[in-house]
Amino acid sequence: MSLTRVQRAAQVACRRMADRKTPFIYNEWYVAALTREVSRELMSRTILDQQVLLFRKEDGTPVALNNRCGHRSFPLSRSTLDGDTVVCGYHGLRYNEKGECVEVPSQCNCSGISIRSYPVHQQGPVIWIWMGEAEQADLEKIPAMPMLEEGWVTSEDYMDLKCSYVYLHENLLDLTHLSFLHANTFGTPDYARANFDTDISEDRFLLKRYVVPTRLPPVWAKPTGLEDKDAARITTSDFVSPALHIVHAEFYDISLDESERPDQRIKTAHIPTPATADRTHYFVVHGRNFALEEDEVTDFMHQQLMAAFQEDVVGLQAVSEMIEEYGDSDDYYEISVKADAASVAMRRYLKRRAEAELAEREATAGMKNTPTQLTPV
Ligand code: FES
Ligand SMILES: [Fe+2]
Repeated sequence: MSLTRVQRAAQVACRRMADRKTPFIYNEWYVAALTREVSRELMSRTILDQQVLLFRKEDGTPVALNNRCGHRSFPLSRSTLDGDTVVCGYHGLRYNEKGECVEVPSQCNCSGISIRSYPVHQQGPVIWIWMGEAEQADLEKIPAMPMLEEGWVTSEDYMDLKCSYVYLHENLLDLTHLSFLHANTFGTPDYARANFDTDISEDRFLLKRYVVPTRLPPVWAKPTGLEDKDAARITTSDFVSPALHIVHAEFYDISLDESERPDQRIKTAHIPTPATADRTHYFVVHGRNFALEEDEVTDFMHQQLMAAFQEDVVGLQAVSEMIEEYGDSDDYYEISVKADAASVAMRRYLKRRAEAELAEREATAGMKNTPTQLTPV
């Protein structure tokens, strides 16, 4: 099928952007689990195409190991936790929290046998994991979640998203979809047409949208007391890292002078952790700086937000199914519009990072690495 000039240009532009086939970026901290999910029960979770075993030591410290027994690949998540060691359910090899084998029941010597362990770090409601080069696992590189450090009230949740993490990041940088995908929850018709600014740098991508004046949807109107008032809704989408996006929003009554406005802000951390090319662990940590003592406000906002985010899960899955079906065809293209400026820059960044990392891995492994393996950027 022949393409129009605009479609052809879009097709060429797409090749510079990350998509479901772009390799994963390993040298980043990702969230492996919510703090409350990891216990003395062995659990496995696929992260960046690797099965990871998660559990807590007796003193509560979280541990992450490769879920595959080094002997004959039995899943350690179907094995036994004995004190701080895992005993494989097949032939009984025993591993400590560093992944070192400390017992082979059929022989007296087990030195040198080990499986991979991953650095982990618990931060409030989430547990971060480092899937990349162990020597680069610096706690200083864990991206900040300010709502956890400022005494705000927070709640957290998890969703299983059947779509590449790339498209979740894109969704979050383009909130024009609030007027349509979220028309029945927290979107308003004026959202898509509102003025916006972008701030694009080498590795950080922000889009600020000014919906003023507007009427707030119930999730924000009720707890802020701004029902039936002409209000401002100013939202910043902030791509912090491949593992974290934070949406900041402030709300106020536009009839009040700046000095009279109560400080009413929310920050929602959207935390995509790639499971596979087409599946993402979607963690959410939501925080607010008002109505701090009111548990019913927490419950109300949490329930309303999760209902809205579920619309993203359903919408992105539909997008993913389309891309899976048509993404490899010769006439596939994605046309970008002005509102996509930040997300296009972000997707180019993800692709550059992923390809640079891949080239480094291949060089380290001594594999042949010709320039033709890389897509020009
Ligand atoms: S497969 Fe684990 S001990 Fe044999
Ligand atoms: Fe959304």
